[in-house]
Amino acid sequence: MQSISKYKEQIATYIDSIKLDGHPKELYEPISYILSLGGKQIRPVLTLMSSEVFGSSPEKAIYAATAIELFHNFSLIHDDIMDVAPLRRGHQTVHEKWNVNTGILSGDAMLILAYQYFENYEAPIFKDLAKLFSKTAIEVCEGQQLDINFETRNDVAIPEYLKMIEYKTAVLVGAALKMGAIVAETSEENAQKIYDFGLNLGIAFQLQDDYLDAFGDVAVFGKTIGGDILENKKTYLYLKALLNGSTAQREELEAFFAVTEGDGVEKIRRVKELFIETESAKASQGLIKEYTDNALTILEALDIPEDKKELLRQFSLELMDREV
Ligand code: IPE
Ligand code: IPE
Ligand code: MG
Ligand code: MG
Ligand code: MG
Repeated sequence: MQSISKYKEQIATYIDSIKLDGHPKELYEPISYILSLGGKQIRPVLTLMSSEVFGSSPEKAIYAATAIELFHNFSLIHDDIMDVAPLRRGHQTVHEKWNVNTGILSGDAMLILAYQYFENYEAPIFKDLAKLFSKTAIEVCEGQQLDINFETRNDVAIPEYLKMIEYKTAVLVGAALKMGAIVAETSEENAQKIYDFGLNLGIAFQLQDDYLDAFGDVAVFGKTIGGDILENKKTYLYLKALLNGSTAQREELEAFFAVTEGDGVEKIRRVKELFIETESAKASQGLIKEYTDNALTILEALDIPEDKKELLRQFSLELMDREV
């Protein structure tokens, strides 16, 4: 097995080599731009790792890994439009740098480009990859719609939130891993287990993203801190604060989340304080650990060599402690 940094280098080099100088340039420049900002590239790394875990090579999985990363970047461009986000990976979002129409269309093109990468595989593998990809992409859309619906709902329950993040985020992490399994033509049982591992890891990942959105450092995280609070996102931090808080704290939170106007400076400051006071911040850290532990338990049950398990274990633990 290669080291995690070697996989990162492999996918980064491949994505850098994609030629995106087509016409009209207004369509392709935003695609080059978002890809040039890099990001952590955790999903394609997982695809490459998974392929090798199940006895194939990372080279064979590079096209599936690229498809996953292109899809992810497409979803970010559209997500930033929906979330009215100005900052991505420490730089202007596509719709801020250009405009919303550019973001919509470049995003669409990226989704198609992603699909084209599956054409590099022979028929049976192509079919399995495309099937999984389509199912996953629809679920991501469902998750994204729930996320938007929840902004204006004030009766969201924690299980609903967990389902929403499973769909908008975790299924893609699961699919990234399962694609490696498909490329390696391993058993259906292995493919399902690695998917479930990814699903739990993905839920922990989104919980951590929500935590960092409130408590991260903009210079490291690369996104506006408090963006979720400003948009009245019904995160675990918020929902758990409502459950844990006193009547006064609950009323205060609900009043903040009933408005969308203003620069939000005081709203963000006070809501973060309430997340600490009600210990929802602490509870969210506990839940991140729980889902990471679930993932690790599933990993234990996988019938793969110990050194391969160790690499996935290391990757999972690093994700839990990340600040970016
Ligand atoms: C951001 O994903 C969207 C979420 C699902 C939280 P990443 O945190 O993987 O973003 P990049 O690709 O590293 O920028
Ligand atoms: C993103 O969730 C999920 C998808 C992009 C599908 P967020 O809205 O929390 O992601 P960030 O924080 O903007 O990266
Ligand atoms: Mg967003
Ligand atoms: Mg969003
Ligand atoms: Mg977020």
